[in-house]
Amino acid sequence: MRNLIPSYVRVPLLFFIIYGIVEYAIPGEQLAIVEEPLTIPFLILVLLILLATEAIAGLVENISLRSLDEEARARYLAEKEKPIDFAWWKKIYRSLTKAKPIEKEGEIILDHNYDGIRELDNSLPPWWLWGFYATIVFSFIYLVRYHILDAPDQSTEYEIEMAEARTAIEEYKKTAKDLVDFNTVALLTEASDLKAGKSIFEVNCVACHQADGGGGIGPNLTDKHWILGGGIKNVFKTVSEGGRDGKGMVAWKQSLKPSEIAQVASYVLSFQGTTPANPKAAEGEIWVDPDAETEVAPEQVSDSLTVAMN
Ligand code: HEC
Repeated sequence: MRNLIPSYVRVPLLFFIIYGIVEYAIPGEQLAIVEEPLTIPFLILVLLILLATEAIAGLVENISLRSLDEEARARYLAEKEKPIDFAWWKKIYRSLTKAKPIEKEGEIILDHNYDGIRELDNSLPPWWLWGFYATIVFSFIYLVRYHILDAPDQSTEYEIEMAEARTAIEEYKKTAKDLVDFNTVALLTEASDLKAGKSIFEVNCVACHQADGGGGIGPNLTDKHWILGGGIKNVFKTVSEGGRDGKGMVAWKQSLKPSEIAQVASYVLSFQGTTPANPKAAEGEIWVDPDAETEVAPEQVSDSLTVAMN
């Protein structure tokens, strides 16, 4: 058996099998060797042991060969060269097919003769027969499970998994607030978010926009007029990417995290309709939310999500 696969195939093969097991046992985005650098010395050790085993086995063979006399050595070498006899496999094959060997087909030939075509009465191959019994058992279980006990069918399973995935996404979004960009951002209304937005605004923005949003170097943020577009998406984009070149509004994505931009943008929008102490004259156009007529309810959002994912 040892001679069946040469050592230059055996060693890499065993090594990659072990590597595969390691890879499987250490899940993660990255390769196991990146995720868990300790696996590198382990794998090197494995490789060394494999090589050492090969070397020792070869050595033992050499030594025992030397202790044999001429004749025994010749016999040993002849035995080693002998092609392997797959007797056990042939036996399994025969028991699986039960086919009569060609020499014995005479025993099972039927005397029907259609223009020289005659029929062999082979017994059904056991592999086929047992496969057939298995389908009967399977169909019975299937029938009971899906038609009597009403287990969920494929589309219900799909729905269940989609619902699970949707809650998982919601959960994930709660912990991964920085995943937002101007396409996905939604107006934050939680008091804690607005409070955080307020303190970001007070630190970074009041110099140009005033604490009450009335405007100074920067435009008035309390009116309905917007130079770069109103609504949470546009405001998020302006704060993140900055205003027009040379106007003085920098891209805050350098210094603020996406979650912070969403907070401060939501806070900016809370100025809408307030009256600042020293309002700057309106600049830009009156901005009308294109989605305003069709108020998007949360259910509709998840519906469109389903459509998008389908
Ligand atoms: C150095 C002064 C300055 C600072 C600091 C500043 N802005 Fe601005 N901001 C401007 C100017 C100037 C504009 C007008 C840009 C343009 O016309 O393209 C502007 C525009 C805006 C607009 C768009 C207004 C519109 O009408 O479209 C928003 C929203 C905004 N700023 C929010 C903020 C927020 C939030 C911060 C703090 C994180 C901030 N700005 C910090 C100067 C500033």
